[in-house]
Amino acid sequence: MNMESEFNIESFDIKLDTEIIGRNFIYSEEVSSTNSLLIDKSSGNIHGTTLLAEKQSKGHGRKERIWYSAKGLNLTFSILLTDKKYFSKKINLINFVSALAVALSIENLYQLKTELKWPNDVLINGKKVSGVLIESASRGEKIERIVIGIGLNVNQNVFQGNFNITPTSLKNESKQNIERETLLAELLNVFEEILEYVLTNPKWILKEWKDRCRMIGEKISISEDDKVKYGIFDDIDEDGFLILKTDKRTEKIYFGDVSTA
Ligand code: BTN
Repeated sequence: MNMESEFNIESFDIKLDTEIIGRNFIYSEEVSSTNSLLIDKSSGNIHGTTLLAEKQSKGHGRKERIWYSAKGLNLTFSILLTDKKYFSKKINLINFVSALAVALSIENLYQLKTELKWPNDVLINGKKVSGVLIESASRGEKIERIVIGIGLNVNQNVFQGNFNITPTSLKNESKQNIERETLLAELLNVFEEILEYVLTNPKWILKEWKDRCRMIGEKISISEDDKVKYGIFDDIDEDGFLILKTDKRTEKIYFGDVSTA
């Protein structure tokens, strides 16, 4: 049975151990989309602002797919980054940091084995438990703000609809009810710690990410719009792009849905 329980901000706050991320915390019963609200300048400029919503009427994922999440059971939230020091050539690694923060917090708290799927899905036992959507707002060529949107299935146990990858939740995989406050605090703690590695230790990010990616070395297909490419998933380069080896050449892939061929 799905048991909604109110998010307790106080108990989240006690466990939050960050300096900046999540310190400006906004909790909302219902919004259109946490990403859409934070990408809008009128939500302010405070770096690290985190907006958690119990329900989104227009929650979306990559490629404008709808992100379904039952009210009050999961974590659907966004983190705003406005500190320009992160908006460098390595900006793509923020994708990896975000998915890794989800994976590491799950591993730390529930001893579940996670798998990462390029570019930013988190899987458990081959099923999708979390997705990350990063959006940015620019003025001219310059990025002004980045919003990291994370949808994490926590205590929902039934999923209806058509999905690209079968969904699951932490409750389904761990057979226990999960305390959302502890999980969100841990996730933001880890996120703040490893976000710094974009600047100081990008190799660590790539290594940890690749250690959890089972598709490297496999035959894959990548679809982007109506084009499909086949080849071997050779590697991830230092900027986070996928290196695909086809019969004829080696290609750098920037976007797409990857499946084993
Ligand atoms: C994906 O798997 O394609 C990414 C899903 C991202 C969903 C989250 S939920 C919180 C934030 N707000 C949104 O509208 N989307 C992201």
